[in-house]
Amino acid sequence: MMKSPATAGGINIAVRGSHVETVLGTLNQQRATAMRGGPRVTSGSVKEFVLKSMVENYAELPRILRRPLWRFWHSWIIAREKRDVAMTCMNYGYAGLDTPETVDLLPEEENERYGLQMYHQAASWVQLEGKDVLEVGSGRGGGAAYLARHQKPASYVGLDISEPAIRFCNDHHRFDNLRFVTGDAEALPFENDRFDAVVNVESSRCYPHILRFFAEVKRVLKPEGTFLLTDMRWKTDVRQLRQQLVESGFAIADEKEIQQNVIRALDVDDERKRQLIRRRIPKLFTAAFNEFAGVRGSGRYTSFDSGKMDYWSFKLVHAS
Ligand SMILES: C[S@@+](CC[C@H](N)C(=O)[O-])C[C@H]1O[C@@H](n2cnc3c(N)ncnc32)[C@H](O)[C@@H]1O
Repeated sequence: MMKSPATAGGINIAVRGSHVETVLGTLNQQRATAMRGGPRVTSGSVKEFVLKSMVENYAELPRILRRPLWRFWHSWIIAREKRDVAMTCMNYGYAGLDTPETVDLLPEEENERYGLQMYHQAASWVQLEGKDVLEVGSGRGGGAAYLARHQKPASYVGLDISEPAIRFCNDHHRFDNLRFVTGDAEALPFENDRFDAVVNVESSRCYPHILRFFAEVKRVLKPEGTFLLTDMRWKTDVRQLRQQLVESGFAIADEKEIQQNVIRALDVDDERKRQLIRRRIPKLFTAAFNEFAGVRGSGRYTSFDSGKMDYWSFKLVHAS
């Protein structure tokens, strides 16, 4: 439902959902406090706050902004990257509840253990060996490379909306069965019945029209194919997600709530992420990156920890 326009710095923005309005409201409160003689709001701190809030509330931003923002975000990271690439996974991670480590990794993969374990969990429902696999929203390709290398599909195609991310992936991850292409989740550039499995990790919440994405997955999946969907949702939206899946012609063959595993991963990986951000990110962007990484105390961490945000892993098949 469209709400009435909110105002930020004299600009009217038509917003959908309450989170953006909360951001703008907080900004206005900060201004009012400063005008009453409270702590001064510097333009630096306002920018930091706005950037952080945009990351935190990305999925509630107007639809038209979401795709360009992803492209900008990927380009920004790539432009600042030194030769040593420190991040190829962009999800919040998965850890075991007793022992955080759930899989054996190669030494060079160890640094991104929890992001890779998220992929292991997402794909754990099926055997990918010898299969043709599509991943939608493959980001910086770490998870795609991990599955292509260890699960040995015949072919693994990673697709993302961001051209710079795809260029990075094709340069950085080189395996014979792996390639990356630019494309939109809502208009997949493939023929019908092309893939045995479609993988989707922490990306679907970004899509402006989720039903178009589900219709596209159904179209490109072979009749006996499997859709492996792993993502977060506000707790209040999980029921709607299930309905949308069923209405799109999928049956839920298996599912697991993994929110506690995500919190555990955020906890055990907290210091590594903070250090990385301290070392590499200019101060203006620190709060935004802390939010993006879900460090302890961030809005995202708190939404998981308070139970407002859920995280689910689904195995979906064509409904008969
Ligand atoms: C949080 S990142 C997750 C990336 C990757 N799955 C991972 O776990 O490392 C979300 C990804 O979805 C991509 N994305 C957003 N909207 C998209 C769309 N409409 N079509 C394809 N990819 C999209 C973004 O560019 C980004 O790389």
